[in-house]
Amino acid sequence: MSKTPSPKIIIAIDGYSACGKSTLAKDLSKKLGYAYIDTGAMYRAVTLFFLRNEVDFDSKTAVATALNKITIGFVNVKGKNRTLLNGEDVEEEIRKMYVSQKVSPVATISAVRRAMVAQQQKMGEQKGVILDGRDIGTVVFPKAELKLFITASPDIRTQRRFEEVQAKNQVSTFEEIKANLLERDHIDSSRADSPLKQASDAVVIDNSNLSKQEQLGMVKALVKERIKQVKKSSKR
Ligand code: DC
Repeated sequence: MSKTPSPKIIIAIDGYSACGKSTLAKDLSKKLGYAYIDTGAMYRAVTLFFLRNEVDFDSKTAVATALNKITIGFVNVKGKNRTLLNGEDVEEEIRKMYVSQKVSPVATISAVRRAMVAQQQKMGEQKGVILDGRDIGTVVFPKAELKLFITASPDIRTQRRFEEVQAKNQVSTFEEIKANLLERDHIDSSRADSPLKQASDAVVIDNSNLSKQEQLGMVKALVKERIKQVKKSSKR
């Protein structure tokens, strides 16, 4: 008798800036063969477009016109996720400090959020996806089968981001990075539209003292358990 295939689920990973959500999501997507959607990269790509085209963030008309001219996509090049803005690979550019400094204000704009959320829901409708961001478990997929809320201490987050930035030979000081992370956390969690907050049914993981492997092991066990539950309930 052939084995029934495992049901596919949606995994929502939310949390503060630079707490390793995307590393976890990428590792998990390789293990499970699931698609990975980096929703922060989408807000970053919009921000880059706005900055390059000097779009006035405060003008509803200018924002709506700009959004109509933006297409965001993802491609996998040699096993690595790359973000495309109107067909251009902007993966490196969107991670630079001048984009990081403007992305949270752009992400407070409701028209921007509506456009991004609609696209994310479409990308995830077939399930078998992992999305990381700030509002995935609360707004984008409130019925996701597994929701994680990731956190780590500000100094540990800063140190990890500082090492990443140095490895890319970009110039930012520890203090500059820390100030940017804390400012984004503040804007992201206090905005009126879909603020960053823990979904009531999310599993919280503080990874300050966890290795990537330890965290991945914990999450893989959670995924296994959720898939089992989904299988069980679909048989009823
Ligand atoms: O994950 P990240 O640091 O690359 O995200 C950049 C910014 O985008 C973050 O400071 C807030 C915003 N964002 C958001 O508002 N909602 C999401 N689902 C993902 C990111």
